[in-house]
Amino acid sequence: MSAPSSAPSIAVSGLPQEHPLRHGAASSPLLLAATGQPGPRPVWFMRQAGRSLPEYRRIREGTGMLQACFDPSLVAEITLQPVRRHGVDAAILFSDIVVPLKAMGVDLDIVAGVGPVVAAPFRSRSDLERLPNLDPASVAAVSEGARLVATASPVPLIGFAGAPFTLASYLIEGGPSRTHARTKALMHSDPELWHDLADRLARVAAEFLRVQVLAGASAVQLFDSWAGSLSLADYRRFVLPHSAAVFAAIGDLGVPRIHFGVGTGELLGAMGEPDVEVVGVDYRVDLADAAARVRPGRALQGNLDPALLQADLPVIRSHVERILRQGDNLHGHIFNLGHGVPPETDPDVLTRIVSWVHELRP
Ligand code: CP3
Repeated sequence: MSAPSSAPSIAVSGLPQEHPLRHGAASSPLLLAATGQPGPRPVWFMRQAGRSLPEYRRIREGTGMLQACFDPSLVAEITLQPVRRHGVDAAILFSDIVVPLKAMGVDLDIVAGVGPVVAAPFRSRSDLERLPNLDPASVAAVSEGARLVATASPVPLIGFAGAPFTLASYLIEGGPSRTHARTKALMHSDPELWHDLADRLARVAAEFLRVQVLAGASAVQLFDSWAGSLSLADYRRFVLPHSAAVFAAIGDLGVPRIHFGVGTGELLGAMGEPDVEVVGVDYRVDLADAAARVRPGRALQGNLDPALLQADLPVIRSHVERILRQGDNLHGHIFNLGHGVPPETDPDVLTRIVSWVHELRP
């Protein structure tokens, strides 16, 4: 079977663009930057809600990660912790990319220090037949959590989902993988099964994003964290059409869409091709170089190396200044890290970075 040359379309229901819980969001720095309009420079951090915060570790005591993800008041509280502490310009929903899979009945857990572990890894067409579509009712706790955040948050809420490739990698490998060898083997040996699986996961991601936006999220990010392990040719043939289908399926919602992956230097141009407003850039590529690779009219998000959070404050500040200067020349710039906040980060350093960004680009 040949790969679809354009995004396969996923039918979705319509939605009014105005949402009662998104009032005021249109003039927020995040949404202005995402759509290339002038305004103060927004800053938020991937994985800002989590283990770098003592208040997170306290509230999570005795509660499993997935259990927490299905508890609306915990979801809301943990999502808002970094907003209160750091004064970031966006909240990102406390959840995980495997939450919709769990809600669909996939037997998996999130193991501390390891990541998602799937009991019976995906191997064959019969496994696909056992994978249902995502029923919004099964993630009612997530949408209730999002609604609580959207009601209480002073800043826009970002919803997110795992992209088809990254989700497929967890399903096929059974857990985190450095090589993604089984996933790549399946793609190349049984392209038809691969495309059917990726199509199913694209529908799951689109539905999960839709649920969050309907509950009040003002922007969404698709995490294709492990896409950087693919060659550009494989990415274009096996992955991009399915990620593009996710973005196309939620286009009617009228919220900015962010496309992010790690180690994606070679893929950046391709990642900017679908219907997205923002491309996330990891720390390996200079924002100026990234801008030359991504088609014009896209904002960029990034890209402080998370490892630098361990450096001395003057060193960090000089890198923040460099990234802000590079951001000045972009169609829009959202300050972020190049990947998630490491658990050992001193939270005061993050608060400092937020105040520097706000002070230098008010
Ligand atoms: O960014 C945020 O603050 C929102 C929360 C968020 C989590 N996971 C919470 C979480 C987000 C956006 C994610 C997405 C996610 N999950 C991705 C894509 C982002 C990325 O990092 O590239 C991926 C690949 C996963 C899968 C996953 N879940 C991993 C690799 C881990 C870490 C495992 C570990 O313990 O080192 C998780 C667990 C997880 N997700 C934690 C949190 C706060 C830690 C669990 C805990 O606190 O016990």
